[in-house]
Formats: sequence, structure tokens, C-alpha cells
Amino acid sequence: MGAAMGMVMVMLAALLASFAPSARGLDRGEFPPGFLFGAATSAYQIEGAYLEDGKGLSNWDVFTHARSRDIKDGLNGDVAVDHYHRYMEDVEIMHNLGVNSYRFSISWARILPRGRHGDVNSDGIAFYDRLIAALLQKGIEPFVTLQHFDLPHELEVRHGWLGAEIREEFDYYADVCFQAFGDRVKFWTTFNEPNLFTKFAYMLGMYPPSHCSAPFGTCNSGNSHREPYVAAHNIIMSHAAAVDNYKKNYQAKQGGSIGIVIAMKFYEPLTNATEDILAAQRAMSFEIHWFLDPIFFGEYPKEMHEVLSSNLPKFTAAEKRLLQNKVDFIGVNHYTAIYAKDCISSSCDLNTYEGNALVLAIGERDGVKIGKPTAFVGYYDVPEGMEKIVKYVNLRYENTPVYVTENGYSQYSNNSMGDLINDVGRVNYLHGYLSRISSAVRRGANVRGYFVWSLMDNFEWAFGFTVRFGMYHVDFQTQKRTPKLSAKWYQNFLMGSGPVNTMENMRTDI
Ligand code: NOJ
Repeated sequence: MGAAMGMVMVMLAALLASFAPSARGLDRGEFPPGFLFGAATSAYQIEGAYLEDGKGLSNWDVFTHARSRDIKDGLNGDVAVDHYHRYMEDVEIMHNLGVNSYRFSISWARILPRGRHGDVNSDGIAFYDRLIAALLQKGIEPFVTLQHFDLPHELEVRHGWLGAEIREEFDYYADVCFQAFGDRVKFWTTFNEPNLFTKFAYMLGMYPPSHCSAPFGTCNSGNSHREPYVAAHNIIMSHAAAVDNYKKNYQAKQGGSIGIVIAMKFYEPLTNATEDILAAQRAMSFEIHWFLDPIFFGEYPKEMHEVLSSNLPKFTAAEKRLLQNKVDFIGVNHYTAIYAKDCISSSCDLNTYEGNALVLAIGERDGVKIGKPTAFVGYYDVPEGMEKIVKYVNLRYENTPVYVTENGYSQYSNNSMGDLINDVGRVNYLHGYLSRISSAVRRGANVRGYFVWSLMDNFEWAFGFTVRFGMYHVDFQTQKRTPKLSAKWYQNFLMGSGPVNTMENMRTDI
């Protein structure tokens, strides 16, 4: 080979190495040792057994029955995908898949049906003991969420998240869990997406307890301008109390870590006008900084002060002291990037998720979509958003380790079985997003794990069973689990011996 040709080859090799792995195949070997690869679920969405073995009613049990018209198909999680009875099969599925971690949540109402003034339900403890034992036996690390949208109905009725009493309730519940499971659970998160559920529950009125007011919606009670921030304040302080307790009384002897999970879209300005650039920043503030700034810096972000003024609670000196504990990691739930349009300089419909930030989220610019649409309204396949969001979080929050605690792709349930199983769109999505994590990690991002939402199809809150996020198809009548193409793809990535592309060289024997 001539010198010139040699030079070209060297340059080509360098160029290829600098590409995202999607261009050269995605390789598990490129992730640091100990990186967690898993799948995620939550209690209400999968367990069922809503009145068994001493479990109390949760707010979602009551809401789905009383207001079935607010659930797209009118259904509920009474049976869900019957994981309570089928957990052994589900653990076996995970083992075959090759995950080394499983993110699930504990049902508060199964552990403390009546809150801290009632008894601990020993059958509830026993269920999670069995689940944890089965996972550990297969070498799967439990990654546990304490609160994933559901809480005992009795507490919802007494004060929900609006009364400061809930802080002691949560602290007590967390303590019961640390004590019962902390010898085996090394990853705890206090709350799942409190930034999202407070808005759905107290601003848009779509989740229990269905509070809202104009212009955000029409509900029987509520104040959309104030209540989401009161609820969030109580959640932030509940989180802080549980973290304080864990750090003081459990961490040294149990050796685990504790964090919080936040829903994070990545907002891009719709245009390069200053108003839209500021709108994107405001949207990031209302989405992410709302919870993480107090947890890291003891104060709400300035954009929220500006827009909300006296509707935003203030941290007392004692609260700030409690907030001084740091989280050990940040859980990032990331599904989509979206454009942000300013609603201060022009008028918009404010009855939306971003309405409180005076922002309208839009999926297209000049007639071109930001990414391929998915079945979930407003969620697009925009893999580069993943790299941006993890870097953003690392940069703003002291390079604290990040776990991508959710990322996934939805299909309409009423597709044919063949189309549901042959989920090429999900394979492309997961491949694209994981490739971006790989590239972020190679460039030094502090990311320690990744969980696909979801292990299997399940109850998708206000959408009922009309959309499916699972790598395993679940027949909601028979409860049969069937691997989709994406499960085979993930298995190949996790257990195969080299890089995977989207579809080539896949084992199909799962
Ligand atoms: C967010 C939530 O944590 C989870 O419960 C939900 O099913 C998925 N993302 C998809 O919407």
C-alpha cells in the first residue's frame, strides 16, 4: 500500500471512531464496567391484586373506579398484568433478557394501608421480600422507587400532597422500607417524576385528586396557579426528610445510595428569536430546575420566581438546612425532545403541560417534525436529545452520577399482533438513544445506568391499556407474555459477543 493510501486509511479509521456507535454498531463493551442495564416498571401499572393480602386502596384504585371516564378505555389496574402472582415468571423473563438490574416501585398502600397511624402489612413486606430474593438469586440488582404516583387513598383523602403532614407520612413509609429491605436494596429513589404528576394532579386535573382551575382546565376544586407548587414543596421536603434519615441511619451500615427521578424533556427553541430561546430556558426551569435546584442549591430557579411570584412557596431556614444533604445520583426519565414557543410575546393555549411556564411545546418547525412521531402524543424519536439531556444535567448539577431511569417507545394497542411483535420502530428508537448514551459516556458524561420503559406492556395511567411500551407483549386477557423484536434486540446487545446494529445478526431464540 502506498504512503498516500495508508494515510487515507488512517484518516478513515479516525473518522469512523469519532462517529456515534450507531454508525459502527452498538457495543456493550464500550460502557464502563458495572454499568447497570435494566428494564423498568411501577407497582400500580403491573401488580394488580389490588385488594389482596391486606393491601389498602390507593388513590389510583379509587380514581380509576370513580372516574373511569377519565381513563381512555375506562379500565383500571385492578388486575393490570398480574405481576403480583406472576413475578417469578417475570424475573425469569428478565434473566433471559440478560439485564443486571430491575427498576420497580413499592406500593405504599400494600405496606402501610392506612399510613403511619395504622399497622405495617406484613404480607405486603413478604411480597417484596420474595421479589427481591428472586431477583438477587438471578444476579439482578433491585433499583427501587418508593413513590411512583400512587399513595394510600386514606392519605389522599386526608390531605394528599397539599398538607405538610404528608412529609411525616412519607418519611415514616420510607423508614419502614429502608428497615425492611435496605440490607438487600442498594439503589433507592424517593419519587418518580414528581414534576410531572403534580402538574397532572393539581394543575391539569387529569390524575387524582383531579384538581384544577382556569385556564388550565375545569375541575370541581383546585387552584392551578398555586396547588402544584404547594404539592411540589411538600414533596421536596418529604424527599429531603427521607434522604436525611437514610444518610444518618442506614447508609453506612447498608451501603446503598439514594436519588430522585425527574421527567425530563429536552426543550429546543422553536426559532432563534430571543423570546423562544428564553422560552426554552423557562421550560427547562419549570421541568427540571423546579425540583433539582432546591435539592442542590436550596432555592427555586429565578425563572419560576419571575413567573409565579407569591404563588411559589419559600424555603424556611430549617427547610434549607434539611436540604443540605446531597442525593447520590439523579434519575433521568427521558423520552423526547420538543420545540418551545414563547407565550409571553404571543398568545397561546395555556391548558397544556408547559402552560405554567408560558410556553407552548410544538412537535414541528416549518412543517418538519422534530423526529418520528410515536403513539404517545407529543413524544418523538429524537435520539440526540438523550445526549443533550445527560450532559445538561451533569453540567448543572455538579457532575452528579446520572441513571437513565426510563426511556422507551409506545405503540397503539389496537395494531395487529404481528405489528406489535415486530416492533422495528422500538428497535430503532432504543438503538438510537442507547447509541447517544454510549457516545456521551465516551466523551466523559457521568452516566451509570440505563433502564428501558418498560419490561412489558402495562396500564398506562390516563391512557389505560390503549398504548404499549413493553419489550414483552402482554395479552391483557390471558396475561401471556411474548417477546417482541425489541426484547430480542436488547438481549443481543446485552448477551451477544460484539456490537449490534439495529437488526442484523440477531439471535431469535429468546
Ligand atoms: C413515565 C412514568 O414514570 C411511567 O409510569 C409511564 O408509564 C411512562 N413514563 C410512559 O409514559
